[in-house]
Amino acid sequence: MPSHPDIEKILFTQEEIQARIAALAEQISTDYANTADLVMIGVLKGSVFFLADLARALSIHTRIDFLSITPFHPAGEPGLVRIVKDLDASIEGKDVLLVEDIIDTGLTLRYLLRALNERRPRSLHVCTLLDRSVRRLADVPVRYRCFEIPDRFIVGYGLDYQQGHRHLPFLGVLKSELFRG
Ligand code: IMP
Ligand code: MG
Repeated sequence: MPSHPDIEKILFTQEEIQARIAALAEQISTDYANTADLVMIGVLKGSVFFLADLARALSIHTRIDFLSITPFHPAGEPGLVRIVKDLDASIEGKDVLLVEDIIDTGLTLRYLLRALNERRPRSLHVCTLLDRSVRRLADVPVRYRCFEIPDRFIVGYGLDYQQGHRHLPFLGVLKSELFRG
């Protein structure tokens, strides 16, 4: 199947992604039917495509906001991140859905959940496009997920390798000879 020269195989097609998002959106719309204050927070840049499609598939009112993080390793410690672009609005008293592209070790998510919980949202849950739970190091609560994935490096539909490939409309496995991770 023609896809892209850097892709070993397509894991999920555009159609499969949209079908999962529709199902997830229905569940989220039901779960949050009684809140007027849902805020979806996208973590830049990986979750942008997912959040855009998910939000448009909801049948309830929502607002969206974004934050951006960067990894830093002061003492070679893995999983430390810093917020480099913060939310525009307060989340105090709001029902917050944190939208992620992929949860791998869970260390990034653990940091984000701690930082956001300090701002006293009414509730805080996680929705991720991809979950690679075989590599989990931190025990983080994930309420909504589109796909569980194997231990391969995935690009497309927002996910990057060195900032490239985000625009591919499908989720694919990057050819291993290209991946130096
Ligand atoms: P964690 O802290 O190990 O859960 O790392 C999550 C972050 O690592 C994600 O937000 C991605 O930016 C990046 N990442 C992990 N696995 C992949 C992958 O397969 N493709 C692209 N980015 C990835
Ligand atoms: Mg990334």
